Order: sequence, then structure tokens, then C-alpha cells
Amino acid sequence: MPGRPDGVSRVEPTSAWPALRGIAYGGDYNPEQWPRETWRDDVRLMREAGVTLVSVGIFSWALLEPAEGEFDFAWLDEVIDLLHENGIRVDLGTPTASPPAWFFAAHPDARVIDRDGRVMGFGSRGMASHSAPAYREAIVRIASALAARYADHPAVVLWHVHNEYGVPVGEDYSAHSVAAFRTWLRERYGNLEALNAAWGTAFWGQRYTAWEHVGAPAIAPSVVNPAQRLDFARFTDAQLRACFRAERDAIRAHATQPITTNFMANQSWTTDLWKWAAEVDVVSDDSYPWAADPENEIGLAMASDLTRSVAGGAPWILMEHSTSAVNWQPRNVAKRPGEMARNSLAHFGRGADAVLFFQWRASRSGAEKFHSAMLPHAGTSSRVWREVVQLGADLGKLAEVQGSRVVADAAILWDFESAWAQDLEWRPSVELDHKERTRAYYERLWRDRITVDFALPTHDLAQYPLVIAPAQYLLTARGAANLERYVAGGGTLVVSYFAAVVDEHDRVHEGGYGAPLATALGLRVEEFLPLREGEVTTVAYGGAELTADAWQEHLVLEGAEVRGVHQGGPAAGGPAVTRHSHGRGHAWYVSTRLDPAGLAAVMADVYADAGLAPADAPEGVELVTRRGPDTDYLVAVNHRDTPARIPATGRELLADAPVEGALELPGGAVAVVRTPHGATGDTAS
Ligand code: GAL
Repeated sequence: MPGRPDGVSRVEPTSAWPALRGIAYGGDYNPEQWPRETWRDDVRLMREAGVTLVSVGIFSWALLEPAEGEFDFAWLDEVIDLLHENGIRVDLGTPTASPPAWFFAAHPDARVIDRDGRVMGFGSRGMASHSAPAYREAIVRIASALAARYADHPAVVLWHVHNEYGVPVGEDYSAHSVAAFRTWLRERYGNLEALNAAWGTAFWGQRYTAWEHVGAPAIAPSVVNPAQRLDFARFTDAQLRACFRAERDAIRAHATQPITTNFMANQSWTTDLWKWAAEVDVVSDDSYPWAADPENEIGLAMASDLTRSVAGGAPWILMEHSTSAVNWQPRNVAKRPGEMARNSLAHFGRGADAVLFFQWRASRSGAEKFHSAMLPHAGTSSRVWREVVQLGADLGKLAEVQGSRVVADAAILWDFESAWAQDLEWRPSVELDHKERTRAYYERLWRDRITVDFALPTHDLAQYPLVIAPAQYLLTARGAANLERYVAGGGTLVVSYFAAVVDEHDRVHEGGYGAPLATALGLRVEEFLPLREGEVTTVAYGGAELTADAWQEHLVLEGAEVRGVHQGGPAAGGPAVTRHSHGRGHAWYVSTRLDPAGLAAVMADVYADAGLAPADAPEGVELVTRRGPDTDYLVAVNHRDTPARIPATGRELLADAPVEGALELPGGAVAVVRTPHGATGDTAS
């Protein structure tokens, strides 16, 4: 993988995938929370459940290095040897998400300070400043010591650096962070004039005359310069990655196993996962959908698709999810019977070649004692345990799917920098939440079973018949030129409102909003016309009346044809939805917030332009195809209680039964059908 800094003597990874055959199964294992007698019981039960891979040591720093520079590996030796004797492989963590008490006693300046100026206390996790020199030194010391000791242990197949960078601590306003921010800015801008220009410091008299005056965008009486905040978000991401790189390179100096760190695709907005994916040997992700969402399978799918996309389509590791309830949401709804398997196999369907949980055995003490586990407090006489054992057996039947790749039909743009910029204060309306529109478009495609890859505006998009830009507020000239080329080359592009408004410094593009896309879209936006809270309007679209709210714009057409007309609100009588033929392709612009039915109506016409057709299956059935060298695998998940019948032919791997023409999928069930190439209806290659 790219991104390795030069000049470090190190060994190369032997492979990008843990040396495991089949779909890995297991979870975080925290034996230090239990007496030794329990460990033997653990491995016996792990074998019973079909566990093949466990993550060890993620929060063990205080035990491994009880005093600065003094190490105690005896217990870990014992645990890893025991796992090895039982054929269970180890994903070895570096414990750097939670430094020991002695570290903070020695280095009180290494504590994180939040935007409001509060110094973070001890007794939790994620308390250390990623910019503190003492922290940097300490993480390299512990990572090196672990790597030197376990590099050659045959059980260790993967390294797991830190835990969920950016959660719970991303931004840090400590003195170390401010100093590092200045250094980062100097490297980025070279001189103060360039910084003043990029941040537009002529506004509100912010102009800087000395680097020492430049600070982090801490809380202030009014809104802080958005360009400064955007750069601080970029800097924060870069600092976290620098910490990862420091540990990774310390490990790599000794060890050949692949190295990863667990992302949080559905929660973290601090880390630019496109950049992170280039740093790891294999992508891994933690998945915790919002339990109260009655259709949380959609959010789960979206996070999986993003994870796979940042991995460049390669198989990835589901590093954590939950067997049942989590412990940190307002109402921790327990998973219903069968839901864990549906969740697990939905991730698998979207490219995960490992299904792991937080955690193996439910804790007795501590902040997470009410979090579900593979082995619950109730023990083995429990529904959860029985389902865990069943899932292990099922995954064992899916070994041949390992390494196959998901077939995607369309792309949605997902740009962290644009999201960071868009979600700052003082935008034209509080309704302009980038996640809301991204989810709305994703959801439409999910319901139509059009599998999505995520992409950046600068990516090569030619392979996708359809590209959607649901929230591309920030668009660089390069990104805009790429999107224009995509359309000219025959693609179908859909752009949602408030797009291409600013450049990389959050400076408004001149010449009308969306000017960089004017050629592709055949229009410009003269004025934003946000609606009042609760104001609902309609759009005449074909013979239909679509419902919309929140947002309108005054469009000036430069060649686009009008497909939908506002029937009320400040833009009444003006265009709401347009389509422009450009080169060999078409660009659609949707300048209002359509409700789901309205979006469905527009997208049906968009699909026709793109030559896409929704797959044939009852509502609530998720269908994804993974493609291997010789065969396709249709993964079908029925999220409803009612049975479904799906056209398919081949062999169903879980029941090991033939499927001739139709797959009968009971309510709540999952099936994986091996079919000839192309027989799943997914013809994209
Ligand atoms: C994850 C974290 C785990 C555990 C889990 C609980 O975000 O990595 O350590 O806290 O959440 O849901």
C-alpha cells in the first residue's frame, strides 16, 4: 500500500490479509479482566463457537508497562500461547488508546483539552493529546516492545494499532496541539501572506502578522473563521494519522504481519478514511448502527459500502459489532432473534471477510458491563450464545466466498473535507446537513437494490453508469473538471442542491453558486431561497406532484431542460429539477429537498438515463453480489418477517441445497447462493 515514509529500515508485510482460510470469526478478547482459571474455559468455548481470530491487548497498557520502560509480558505470553495451542489466531493490539495512570502523573501536559477549554480527566479512555511529545514517545516505545516480542509468534496474524482513532478524542486544543497546528500551517502555506489569503483574514480584522499569534479555533464569543476550522479539521486528521504511522512503522521494523487500525465509518467525522485506507495493509471497521432506527440495516449497509470503497473494493475486516445491545445509546435496544446473523451476513455480503465482535466475554465491571458479548452474563444457556455458535457454523460454510469482490452498480460521492466544511455554523439553513441528503439518496438506491460504491469527485468514475453528488458543498476546480468529463464521456450525474459552492478554503466560487459545474449542469444558481421551518411545497413533475421542503434556489438556466417546477414558495413557477444533455451523458440537478416518494419519482427517470433497473425482490430484502474468479455469490438478507421469493439459480451454501429458478427466503433469513457469473442480474464487472 502507498503512504510509507521513506528512511525507516523495516521488513515488508508478507500479505495484505491475515493468514487465515475462510471467513474469520471472533472478537475482542480481554482476558486481563478475568482470573486465569477462566482463560481455559474461554478457549474451550471459543472452539465450540468456531472462533478463529481474537483481538488481544487493546486496553492493556497499564498491565504491559506497569512503570515507564518496565515491561511485563508474562501474562500475555501465556494468553497467546494458550490461544495458539487451541488453533485460535491473534490480532495483537497496541494499547495506545488508553495510557496508564503513571503516564499522566508524569506528563500532565499531555492531557487533551477540548474546544471549550476543559482539561480531560483520567479513568476513561482517549485522554491523551496526540500532539504531546511524551505521548508520541510512549506509543512508539510500547509498540516497538510488543512487535519485538511477538513478531515471530505463529499465532499473531495481524496487528491492530490503537483503537478507533478520532473517537472519543479528535480535536485537541492543548498547547502541544496549538504548537503542532502552527507547524502544520507553516508547511501548508509557507508564509503568513498565503495563510491570510486562504483564510480570508481581512474579514473581522483577523489578519496575522506573526506565526505565534495563530491559534486553534477555540470557542470564541461568536463564530470562528470557517476556513480556520476546516484547516483545523484537516490538521486533526493528519495528527491522528501521524500517530498511527509512528506505531505502524515501529511495528514494521520488526514484524511482517499486516497492520490495521479499526475505522468507524458510521460515526467518525474526524478521520478522512480515504487517506487512512492508504496507510493500512488491510482495512477494518467497527459497526454500531443506531438501534432505535427501525431500518438500521440501511445505515449498516451504507457504512459497509463506505468501508469497502475506501479499501478500493478489497475485502475488509468487520473488526467489531455487537451480538445484541450496546451500552452507550439512550435506549440500548437488544437485537431480536436472528438479527445478529442478519447484521453479520449483511456486512459479509458487502465485502467483509471477517466477522468479529466487541467483545468475547461480557465484562463484570467497568463502563461497558451492560454491553452485549459473544458469551453473555447469562452464560451458555442463552439465546445469544446459541446464535453465536450457529453463526460460527454458518460462516464455516462460506469459506469459498473469501476474496471475492462486491459488484457495484453506481457511485455516490462522499468527501470528508466537504462534510467538515458544510456542517460548520452560519450556513444558509440548519437543514443543510450533509448526512441527511447522503442517506436519502443512499436509501433510495438501497431500496432499489442498486449496490453503491462511494467515491471522491476526483476519482475515475467512468466505470459507473450513475454518479450521485448528494452533498458536495466544497468542490475543487479539479473535482469539477473530473465530474464534467464524466458526464461528457457518457455518464449520468445527479447533483443535489447547495453544491460546488466553495473551494478548498471555504471561499465562495464566483460567477453564481455551482459555477464550476455550470457547463455540465447547464445552469447556475443565482440565489439560495431557504424555506421556513415546517414549510412544505410541491413540485410539478411530469404528471405528478412531488412534496418538498427546507430549500429552494433561484436557477438561471444555460441549456438545461426543466423537468420539475416549484408550485409554491419563493421560487414558485421556477425550475426545481433539471436535466442537461452534455456530451454523451446527462446531468440532473435537484434543487430542493424532495421527500422519499418524490426522490423515487426523479430517480426512476435517472435510472432510465443510466440504463439501470432496480432488482426484482420484495421490499426489505437486501441483495448484493460478490464476484469470485469463477462464480458469483448472491447474498440475500430478508429484513422482514414475511417470506420472500427471489429469482435465482445455483446452490445455497448455508443449507447446501440446490436453487432452481427461485430462492425461497423465510422471514428474517439469510441465504448465500453460488451462481454462474452474471446470473444474479448484476452485470457490472
Ligand atoms: C467501540 C470500541 C470498543 C467498545 C465498543 C462498545 O467503539 O472500540 O472498545 O467500546 O465500542 O460498543
